[in-house]
Amino acid sequence: MDKCGAGNRVTLPPQIIVLDAGGQYCHLIARKVRDLGVYSEVRPSETPATELASAKGLIVSGGPNSVYDPASPTVDPAIFADFSKTGPRVLGICYGQQLMAYLLGGAVQLGEKGEYGSATLDLDGVHSALFEGISGPQQIWMSHRDQVRAVPPGFTVLASTATCAIAAIEAPARGLYGVQFHPEVVHTTRGREILSNFLFGICGCVRDWDPRHRVPQIEEEIRRAAGHRNVFFFVSGGVDSTVACALCQRALGADRVQGVYVDTGLMREGETDAMCAIPGISIEHAEAHFLTPLAAARDPEQKRHIIGEEFVRVQERILESRHLLDGGWILGQGTIYPDTIESGGTEKAAVIKTHHNRVPGIQRLIEAGRIVEPLRSYYKDEVREIGRELGLPAEILDRHPFPGPGLAIRCLCSEIDAEVQAVEGGYIIPVHSVGVQGDSRTYAPVLSIDILDGTLATELINRTRGINRVVARVRTVTPLAEMRVRQSSLTPERLARLRRADAIVRRLTHASGFDRQIWQMPVVLIPLGTADAPDCIVLRPIDSVDGMTAQSVVMPADLLDGMTSELLAVPGVSGVFYDLTNKPPATIEWE
Ligand code: XMP
Repeated sequence: MDKCGAGNRVTLPPQIIVLDAGGQYCHLIARKVRDLGVYSEVRPSETPATELASAKGLIVSGGPNSVYDPASPTVDPAIFADFSKTGPRVLGICYGQQLMAYLLGGAVQLGEKGEYGSATLDLDGVHSALFEGISGPQQIWMSHRDQVRAVPPGFTVLASTATCAIAAIEAPARGLYGVQFHPEVVHTTRGREILSNFLFGICGCVRDWDPRHRVPQIEEEIRRAAGHRNVFFFVSGGVDSTVACALCQRALGADRVQGVYVDTGLMREGETDAMCAIPGISIEHAEAHFLTPLAAARDPEQKRHIIGEEFVRVQERILESRHLLDGGWILGQGTIYPDTIESGGTEKAAVIKTHHNRVPGIQRLIEAGRIVEPLRSYYKDEVREIGRELGLPAEILDRHPFPGPGLAIRCLCSEIDAEVQAVEGGYIIPVHSVGVQGDSRTYAPVLSIDILDGTLATELINRTRGINRVVARVRTVTPLAEMRVRQSSLTPERLARLRRADAIVRRLTHASGFDRQIWQMPVVLIPLGTADAPDCIVLRPIDSVDGMTAQSVVMPADLLDGMTSELLAVPGVSGVFYDLTNKPPATIEWE
C-alpha cells in the first residue's frame, strides 16, 4: 500500500512500464522514455500482468542474473500472451530479451566470459518497425555474459554482431521485441531512435510528459491532498525539499505553507541568507543548541550522535510550539522518485530517513497518511528543471550533495597532541579519518606525499599498513616536519575558518566551471599546523555516480595554484593538501 495514500499521487497513468529485473540501467530506461515525452514508471519485474494491462508498452530491463538460476528475477509469462490487439507491446533489453526467449521456448547460452563495451550491429536488409529509419552498421553498447542461442517458435532474428549471433529479435504479430544491446545508453548511437520507434511506431504512445508543464498538475495534486489543511516542511537547504516547498506555496498560497529551516550553526557561508531570501521559509536559530554540546566532542561518531539527537529535539520543539500536530496541518516532504523505489535508495538515504523517522510526531503523521510528497514521481534533473521554472536560485538548484550534519563532519578534531612521522616516500599525519575497507569502516591516519599522482597514491595505500588515505602536500608555510597535530575540538573559531575556506573553494570552482565536472568537493579542516596557524585545508574533489564509490579527480594546475594562495591567506591556515584517494578505501567525507 502506498504509504502516502491514494490522494496525492501523480494521476497520469504510465503509458510505458519498465519492469525492473535488477539492471543498473532500469531507471535510465524510464528516464529515456520520459525524455521522449512519454510518462513511464518502474515496477518490480514480477508485477502480475493484470496490473500492467492498461499500459501501452512494457520494457523488461537488463539484469545481472542468468535465466537458468532459479533465484533470478522473472516476469509474469502472461505479459507475452497475445496482446496484439489491445494489450501492451513488450520490449526485452539484454536480460529482458533472454528472459523473453527462455520463457517462450527458446534457448539461452551461458556465457563463459562477458562482452562489455562497444560493438557493431549489422542491420543490413532489416525491415522491422523497431529499426525504422536505421540501416547499415550501427555502433551499439553491450554488457552481458549470457546470450540467446535459439529463438522461440514464431520469432525472427533481426540483427547480429561479431560475437552475438542473436542481437535483436521480434515476433511483430504478437507485439514482442528484444535486443541484446542497451539502447538506453548514449554509447548506442541511435538508441534514442530505437526507443522512439518502440514507443510511437509500435506501442502507439502519445506525448503526455514534459516536466516543465507538470507544474499545474502537481499543484492540483497538492490541493487535493491538503484539502482544507495547511502544509509544513522541514527544509534542509537541499534541492528536493526546497522545490517541494515552493510547489506547495504556489498551489495553496504562501500563507498556508510553513517551511522551517533549522540553522544548526554548521551551515556553509551564505546558506542561511539564501534560505531567508525564499519567501515563506522561516529560520529557526538553533546554533547554540548544537555548538555548545559539540564544543567538547572529538570523536566522529560522538559528533554525529549529538547532532542527530539535537535535531530530533529541535524538530519536536517546533512541532509543539507551532501546533503543527493538530488536525490543521499535514507534513510536506521532498521525496523524489528513486527514493520511493525500494532498491533505488542509497545507503545514505536510508540513514537520513532514520533520522527523520525518529521524531515520533512525524512518525505519527506518516502513519496517519497526513503527508504530501509532490515530487515523488520525479528524477533529480526533472526536479531541477521544475525548480528553475519556479524561479528558484541556481545556487540552490545546482548544489553538490552536502551532508546533513554539515561542516561538523568536515572539521576534524584530535584527542591529543601528536608529531608527524617521516616514512619512505612521505610523512604520516596522525589525523584519523574514516575509510571503508571490505565491509567495515576504518579509522586511520593519513600518508602525505609530495607529488599529485593518483596512481602512486593507490599503490602506496595498498603497500602501506595502517593508513586509509593518501594526500599530496600542495603547499605549506613551513616544512611538514616542523608542523604538528594539536589537541583540538569543534570550536566556533575553527568552524568559521573552515566556512571561509569552503566559500573560497566554492567561488573559484564555480567561476572556473570545475564544479560542473565533478560530483562533489568536500573542503576539510585538519588540526595540523604551526603555533600561529594551527590548521590545514584538505581539498577532496571526487567524481561519482551515486556516492557509493568515488574517484579522486585532479583539478587544473592554475586553478589549484590560485586557490592555494587564497586559502593560505585565511588566518589560522598553514597548508593545503589534496586528497588522492578513491572510495574505497577512503570515504568521501573525512568525519
Ligand atoms: P561517505 O563519506 O560515506 O559519503 O563516502 C557518501 C555521500 O554521502 C554524503 N553524506 C551524507 N549525507 N547526511 C547526508 O545527507 C549524512 O549524514 C551524510 N554523511 C555523508 C556525503 O557527502 C557523500 O555525498
